[in-house]
Amino acid sequence: MNLMFAKKPLAVLLEEAKGENRLRRILGPWALTALGVGAIIGTGIFVLTGVAAHDRTGPALILSFVVAGIACIFAALCYGEFASMVPVAGSAYTYAYATLGEFFAWIIGWDLVLEYAVGSSTVAHGWSAHFQDLLHSFGLGIPAALRTAPFDFDPGSGAFFSTGSVIDLPAVLITFIITIILIKGIRESAGFNTGMVAVKLVIVLFVIAVGAFFVDSKNWVPFAPYGYTGISFFGHTLFGQSGPGGMPLGMLAGSAIIFFAYIGFDSVSTHAEEAKNPKKDVPFGIIVSLIVCTILYIAVSAIVTGMVPYDQIDINAPVSNAFARHGLPWAQRLIDVGAITGITSVLLVMMLSQPRILLAMARDGMVPPGFFGAVHDKFRTPWKSTLATGLFVSIMAGFLPLRILAEMTNIGTLFAFVIVCTAVLIMRKTHPEADRPFRAPWVPFVPIMGIICCTVLMFSLPVENWWRLIGWLGIGMLIYYFYSRKHTITRRLAKEGKL
Ligand code: ALA
Repeated sequence: MNLMFAKKPLAVLLEEAKGENRLRRILGPWALTALGVGAIIGTGIFVLTGVAAHDRTGPALILSFVVAGIACIFAALCYGEFASMVPVAGSAYTYAYATLGEFFAWIIGWDLVLEYAVGSSTVAHGWSAHFQDLLHSFGLGIPAALRTAPFDFDPGSGAFFSTGSVIDLPAVLITFIITIILIKGIRESAGFNTGMVAVKLVIVLFVIAVGAFFVDSKNWVPFAPYGYTGISFFGHTLFGQSGPGGMPLGMLAGSAIIFFAYIGFDSVSTHAEEAKNPKKDVPFGIIVSLIVCTILYIAVSAIVTGMVPYDQIDINAPVSNAFARHGLPWAQRLIDVGAITGITSVLLVMMLSQPRILLAMARDGMVPPGFFGAVHDKFRTPWKSTLATGLFVSIMAGFLPLRILAEMTNIGTLFAFVIVCTAVLIMRKTHPEADRPFRAPWVPFVPIMGIICCTVLMFSLPVENWWRLIGWLGIGMLIYYFYSRKHTITRRLAKEGKL
């Protein structure tokens, strides 16, 4: 029982980082920043902006991006501090093991599957939708049976319905291709990523620069047709309006949806082992990539809501359609290609991150090390867990609907951020002397604000997400009970009298 809360000693973590079976250290500060931007700009801004503005916020979407950006900056500062203290693969999972103990570490590791693997499935869906849109613009298409997941969920009626399709084949195929690239190695992956990041940055800047000429400030009135809040407690509206099925509406409810757009900055911390100078460069990569994206997002959301009346914004491809409405079909296609490229790079980074977390968990005995801990002799990549991730992502993306996947990703990630902020507070108390090359400023204000903001956003999501999160964590607890707790490193250390 006591071992449930046993912490992995910081000294053991740092010692391990020097050991054998390590990944190659080839990433500098800008490569890490590019990985961050690569993981951030994607389905969130190119797809979810539409649903959020149309159904939940109106032009106040601009503020939704500000609020979600601020919540993420608090969390990013905490991630930065941890990444500099414990520069090994594993991200929030590793931080939790050092501060909150074995059980919480398992819970957070399990929860991160929602962020990275389920998140990747969401992104693969977004990729497929844009790919099919582009095909469509050339008069091409794929058979109906291969277009999307076989069922979807209608939050209005609370019921599932059949889509008439069988599988989302493009989503499965792109997942397969990315898996192969990742197994081959990080150098190729990082180079591939940098190219795609450049393309999407150019497209986003294009949207801002050209779109600005088509903004009509009348479209920003009324600014917040659904109000400025939107918080509910397990289905009971606390603040603001609510829509079908008690779904929170308003600026904050919009933040909770477009929060997805910010997910990814933390993935920089999962590359700590591949960083040349992790203590400095990882916090740099996390914070710079987040700030760049926050500024771009605020600008893009102002442009889109200024170009189109909010109730006419397209919910599938809001950004490119805004240009089509103004008679610029060439711009629409250009943006579609940029979106596909951008979303591909998100998928690449997210699917790169998940196996690295599994690798860290395998080294600690939380998951079977023979499989999840295997590093390829030649490529030096965690190839078996990359393959397992690819399989999981393609099944989820092929057969589950986008809406369910996106909301599960958001609630799982917000939960992870709450734990990281809490862990920074605890670590400052328990290990005040530890070397912190990067220190989050204004502690305890910053972590406490991170906890408050992320918790509020969790309560701004439709209630069914809470039940899904609780169900997912329940399954995780069973695995912990029947497998993990019997194999962990803390158990080994305790037996050897080293704890
Ligand atoms: N932030 C990433 C995206 O929007 C996950 O696609």
